[in-house]
Amino acid sequence: MQSILIHSIGTLAGVWRQAPKRPLRGASLASLPVENDCWLSIRDGLIEDWGPMDTCPASDCDILMDAKKGTVLPSWCDSHTHLVYAGSREREWVDKLNGLSYQEVARRGGGILNSVALLHETPEQDLLSQSLARAREIIRQGTGAVEIKSGYGLSLEDEMKMLRVARSIDEQTPLTVKTTLLAAHAVPVRYAGCRERYVDEIITEMIPAVAAEGLAQYVDIFCEEGFFTVEDAARIFEAASKYGLVPKVHANQLSASGGVEIGIKYGAASVDHLECTGPEQWKALASSDTIATLLPGATFFMDLDYCNARGLIDSGAAVALASNYNPGSCPGGDMKFMCSLASIAMKMLPSEALNAATLNGAFAMGVEKFLGSISPGKKANLQILSALPSLDHLTYAFNTSYIKTIILDGKII
Ligand code: NIG
Repeated sequence: MQSILIHSIGTLAGVWRQAPKRPLRGASLASLPVENDCWLSIRDGLIEDWGPMDTCPASDCDILMDAKKGTVLPSWCDSHTHLVYAGSREREWVDKLNGLSYQEVARRGGGILNSVALLHETPEQDLLSQSLARAREIIRQGTGAVEIKSGYGLSLEDEMKMLRVARSIDEQTPLTVKTTLLAAHAVPVRYAGCRERYVDEIITEMIPAVAAEGLAQYVDIFCEEGFFTVEDAARIFEAASKYGLVPKVHANQLSASGGVEIGIKYGAASVDHLECTGPEQWKALASSDTIATLLPGATFFMDLDYCNARGLIDSGAAVALASNYNPGSCPGGDMKFMCSLASIAMKMLPSEALNAATLNGAFAMGVEKFLGSISPGKKANLQILSALPSLDHLTYAFNTSYIKTIILDGKII
């Protein structure tokens, strides 16, 4: 495989000789190691070394790149998306502009169930090409690793279809993809009024079948009034643990659902959303290994109250940021914008946001050993940006893309 030497780097950020073994939390979330005026070498797809420009090695590499004093960052690790879906839902967005709430749209059979019906009608190849377009869009925006959930199938056949499409995205793009079975995203029409029977089907049919084909690493549940309960979560997590699927929870998005507590109890990799949390949940997260994944894009799009990121961080919880790219609550996956929102709306420092969207995102999707930071031996997944007045400028200029070159798996894209 080719070797690359990047020279004349103005700022190399997220650069650790020893990559952290645990997610960053509390005050450490703000420490983003940086080297200035340096070079970086890549060999066999991996980060090899770096150093100050006056030690730049002779160019015995295949590709010599001049960064022109630009900034180099690890690629984003987006640990919560639903980017495999069919069509779009702008009609119900307009309904919401006219006054309906997310729950009211759902009660009228819209929302997630709309995407379920559309996905059911869409042939797998078509679903793949729509989803690949989104995957290529996020690559251009700097994402290198992404978690993709099912949850618009709600039947064995359609959940498997979604997860196969996610696997094809992994195979057909340079993205690193982790997948999550989110069959408990909504109660399908055929089980209206008998949710527990649908949970039985998830446990007895879907989890074993998905595990048998190795189609998911995680299992998730939308723990929310009108969707699923903590008792459902406990049953699903017990069953999934027999197949090695690690829990995640859509928790405390619209109400204090108990999702945080049940996630921690079952050792969830992350509990995600957390808009409706307070000191009790922050403390519980701080003394657990479960990552608090914040999704400010959905709060922005739905015009709701943001999660108290400062409360979580200052209590010592490990915080990650993700896009939640989906057709209902966040139809976009631009992680740089999510970092800007994290600062603008949740008062996270730019350095906290960058760490939360790279290293802590990698921990939230179990790829921290080879992604999330610029460290010797990790995959060379990098964004090469133009020269910036400062690193803080990147997310301050919330609508400007500074990306010049993307490198994924050590290859220029
Ligand atoms: O994370 N809250 C549940 N799931 C998504 C929304 C999905 C949809 O509306 O299609 C979310 O916000």
